[in-house]
Amino acid sequence: MDERMSYRKTSAGAKMLNGRRGGDGIGRMSRRSKGEERPKRPKSAGLARFYSRIGARGWQSSNYFTFSVRSPALRGWLAAQLPARRLRILSVGCGSGELEAHLARCGHAVVGLDLSTPMLKRARKRGLTALVQGDSQALPFRAQAFDAVIFPECVGYLHLPTAFAEAVRVLRPRGRLLITTYAGAVKLHTAYARAGLDEIGAALATCGLRLAEHRFLAAKRSSITPVAPDAEATLLYVRAAHASRNARTEGRARRCTSSGP
Ligand SMILES: C[S@@+](CC[C@H](N)C(=O)[O-])C[C@H]1O[C@@H](n2cnc3c(N)ncnc32)[C@H](O)[C@@H]1O
Repeated sequence: MDERMSYRKTSAGAKMLNGRRGGDGIGRMSRRSKGEERPKRPKSAGLARFYSRIGARGWQSSNYFTFSVRSPALRGWLAAQLPARRLRILSVGCGSGELEAHLARCGHAVVGLDLSTPMLKRARKRGLTALVQGDSQALPFRAQAFDAVIFPECVGYLHLPTAFAEAVRVLRPRGRLLITTYAGAVKLHTAYARAGLDEIGAALATCGLRLAEHRFLAAKRSSITPVAPDAEATLLYVRAAHASRNARTEGRARRCTSSGP
């Protein structure tokens, strides 16, 4: 982190860092006060180093990939799962920002949050302007700041009840929470815990949410196909809703179904 960067406040209540040349940039802030214990989550000593390397060199130079990066079809498919109007979206674990840049092009106001500064710097190069370095376990945003919170391909690193409770706090009532994570056919980074549907559902229930919809998907570069939860499925998609929400209000009109670049 560059010490010469300066802070400014976002509308969602987080501080972001302005780059030396001015304009929007990468932010960092924690809601925890000094000395306060971090919430528990799966530990990975090498996680920061791992994402520093990927942030510095790019996914293409690593042995890893994400579907959000690799598949324009997935970016378009996920955008189509969101309501038609302009939304304030928080993307938790936004990484290098491919999906978030697509959502911004669809007209949404997107804030990307990630633990890794090098990943956020990559996202900034994609033209994203609202980027915050922070931890999903203690989101640096005011309550009800967002219409939608998304967790694209990151929940395997998180303590789910804490991360979802934080998402609920920053989500407006009846806001939308979307999750994608890896399904059976994908070999995982060793630090990434495979989060199954049952585990996700149980964690959602601890903070007053329920599984409103889920799909197992075969995600390819140019196609997204719903499949059975077997060896073919590479991605699990989950939409959560408040447990009390009336099912009749679900399923809004879609927009922005086109694929990203
Ligand atoms: C597999 S990558 C996915 C990146 C991006 N969402 C995508 O789909 O391409 C997981 C991301 O989660 C971030 N991450 C891991 N633990 C986190 C945490 N506790 N809070 C915020 N971000 C975290 C990592 O830094 C990494 O950028």
